[in-house]
Amino acid sequence: MALGVARPASWTAWAVSAVATVLSTYALDLVATAAGLLAVTAGVLDGLAATWLVAVLVASYLAWYLGLRTNLVANLRLLEVTGASTNVLSKAAFELTRRRRPRVRRWAATSGYLLTELAKEVPYYAGAFGAALVADPVDATDAITFLAGANLGAAAYEYALGRGTTAYVAHRAASFDTDWVPADYLRDYYREVEPDEVATIGFFVREIAGACRARPVLYFGTGPTLHHVFLAAPVASEIHLGDYLDANLAEVRRWLDRDPGAHDWRPFVRHTLACEGVAAPTPDDVRHREELTRARVTRLVHVDGRCPSSEPRWATVVSAYCADSATGDPRAWATFMGHVLDRVEPGGLLLTAMLRRSHGYRVGDVTFASAGVDEGDLRRLVRARWGAVDGAVEVHELRDQPDHGYAGIVLAALRRPAGHG
Ligand SMILES: C[S@@+](CC[C@H](N)C(=O)[O-])C[C@H]1O[C@@H](n2cnc3c(N)ncnc32)[C@H](O)[C@@H]1O
Repeated sequence: MALGVARPASWTAWAVSAVATVLSTYALDLVATAAGLLAVTAGVLDGLAATWLVAVLVASYLAWYLGLRTNLVANLRLLEVTGASTNVLSKAAFELTRRRRPRVRRWAATSGYLLTELAKEVPYYAGAFGAALVADPVDATDAITFLAGANLGAAAYEYALGRGTTAYVAHRAASFDTDWVPADYLRDYYREVEPDEVATIGFFVREIAGACRARPVLYFGTGPTLHHVFLAAPVASEIHLGDYLDANLAEVRRWLDRDPGAHDWRPFVRHTLACEGVAAPTPDDVRHREELTRARVTRLVHVDGRCPSSEPRWATVVSAYCADSATGDPRAWATFMGHVLDRVEPGGLLLTAMLRRSHGYRVGDVTFASAGVDEGDLRRLVRARWGAVDGAVEVHELRDQPDHGYAGIVLAALRRPAGHG
């Protein structure tokens, strides 16, 4: 059982959320009011025509929205991973919808946060325009200057809070180095073929047809699992299984060595064969594919997606739920995924799968951070790295999936341009 990073007791999360809400409200007020007063005192908008004043005000709202967006995403991460929030209404909405689908939970938590932030705007309007009405030296320009300054102060505050929260979550989320228990992962995710794997294996079976035959295939971040490996056995000359953790590779080794305590992958082999068109796979069919897979796996390798590799590239790389599930930071995801893309030789094929817009998934009683990325992030990264996006990128919503912390996945089969790299 993993220690140390379980969610805090629920009363602790409520208490932390309440204190954080009060502190954050005061801090926001302080920063925004100071910025507004500073803008008025400095007379930064004095002499501007009315249309320009309005344009500046609109731009300041846009900046505020962008800062707030960073903070809203960070707040979702915080809720998913620790159960606490910097806004107690957001936490209440999250808890009320805890048994609903992740998307509903996220929507509720975000709405709670937004509502509070909008309510906080009212005193600024009342203050600014009230002063303009009753106090002679304060005119409409001053009121708008104050609001624009306050918005920019609030934008900076929300952005800083968002970045700080994201850094905190990264620090608080479970760590692969200390908290990953392969047996918990296998028990929670791989006792039966769940909807995400029905979709993933079906997609991979279809797309591996486009791989170069009789060449080695690399699995990057295979974990303690083999469920995606069976489909490559008829295609590959060799299969190389890479993961960061020795404990995961040891679990794979147990299966290769026919250890009686090794995980039972037969439901997944059956599903793979069914996806390949075998109408009713027999025990012999399953055994045959297991043996072929054992014969094809020739290397278990230690890999670290955070670092570039000097190894030769592979014609086919399969990396499922790895980069997105190894970090809660989208920038770290991009670096990691970029290194995975680098492993594919020009003209080669990448099959990949990622959790869609998830901020965390549970294994045992701990939560690992997820990068919150989606198909747009993947396309942008591939275009930047390979110069083009050539292949299929699919989004699958998961309706009957047990709640592990995600409600959708992205599946992609991407060919690296032949002349690239
Ligand atoms: C959610 S598991 C996915 C495992 C498997 N591909 C699957 O579909 O079930 C994430 C995997 O990423 C691996 N991982 C974490 N940090 C890594 C790193 N820095 N480099 C490579 N793999 C890493 C973990 O060891 C783990 O096996």
